Amino acid sequence: SHHLLTVDSLNRESVDHLLRVAARMEPIAQRRQVSRVLEGAVLGNLFFEASTRTRVSFNAAFCRLGGSVCDTTGFTFSSMAKGESLYDTSRVMSGYCDAIVMRHPDQGSVAEFAAATNVPVINGGDGPGEHPSQALLDLYTIDKEFQRLGKRLSGAHILLTGDLKFGRTVHSLIKLLSLYDPLRITLVSPPGLEMPATLIDLVTSRGHRIEQRESLASDFADLDVVYTTRIQKERFTDEMNESFQGLSDDFMVNRDFLDHRCNQSTIVMHPLPRDSRPGANDLNVNLNGDPRLAIFRQTDNGIPMRMAIFATLLNVDELIEQDVRPVRW
Ligand code: CP
Repeated sequence: SHHLLTVDSLNRESVDHLLRVAARMEPIAQRRQVSRVLEGAVLGNLFFEASTRTRVSFNAAFCRLGGSVCDTTGFTFSSMAKGESLYDTSRVMSGYCDAIVMRHPDQGSVAEFAAATNVPVINGGDGPGEHPSQALLDLYTIDKEFQRLGKRLSGAHILLTGDLKFGRTVHSLIKLLSLYDPLRITLVSPPGLEMPATLIDLVTSRGHRIEQRESLASDFADLDVVYTTRIQKERFTDEMNESFQGLSDDFMVNRDFLDHRCNQSTIVMHPLPRDSRPGANDLNVNLNGDPRLAIFRQTDNGIPMRMAIFATLLNVDELIEQDVRPVRW
């Protein structure tokens, strides 16, 4: 497919290709070189749900390759506020743009939009569905962190915790990880927020060991990665909102958990945002400054990976090295 809507369209070979292209993008992402390889191309950045990282880093990645960006944020700023359909919006945007990134609160809506256009569409998050570019930058981060630590992905122990029911980043990530050699994956989530059974079955059928535990209050001494996600209260039903009492200590990734249950090389990841409001602390700020906290290395890695996605979808990935010069600023 020339779209990136779900991890299901990727295989081990295409993911490895994106990881290699992302590594080649680092000199541009780190602002040592400038590229004009997408000069003249226009990105449509359509966000119908709140976003900082995905919206701005896709925008910046396209600009760093020499392209320009049209940004539309929220229903009120598009003619969907006047009842325009996804189909019509897609047909219209296709006449203006050479690539489109879209985030929307409804699962399947980005695929519906993409079905109406030949312009490459990237799913920037569709409700509780998927967030494939986030999973790719997460895998790129794990790969870079493991290289730094002298570790291998094969056989690694990875903990996914938090809201595994509505957390679209973990839905994409667990499928992406399952393309690799057998892993040990542990799942911990508050009651009612468990990983969908279909995903557990898929990953198990690919030869991975999945264990579900009831809380973080157990031994994780051999853990390589803890990946935690925000409780997505905006996706709760009214009934869930009434019964959810907040996140108990049993599900909080904090200094006590990292220092007493994990080890010195366990890395801590989170797609962000982390909810810093009282009682909602899924990833405690008392970990700030700890070298194991990889969350801002993750956000930085969003730029080279999103550049790699654009370059690959727009078929300029082989031209990068021919089209760079040193920065002048
Ligand atoms: N990780 C992520 O999708 O962040 P934003 O919601 O800020 O884009």
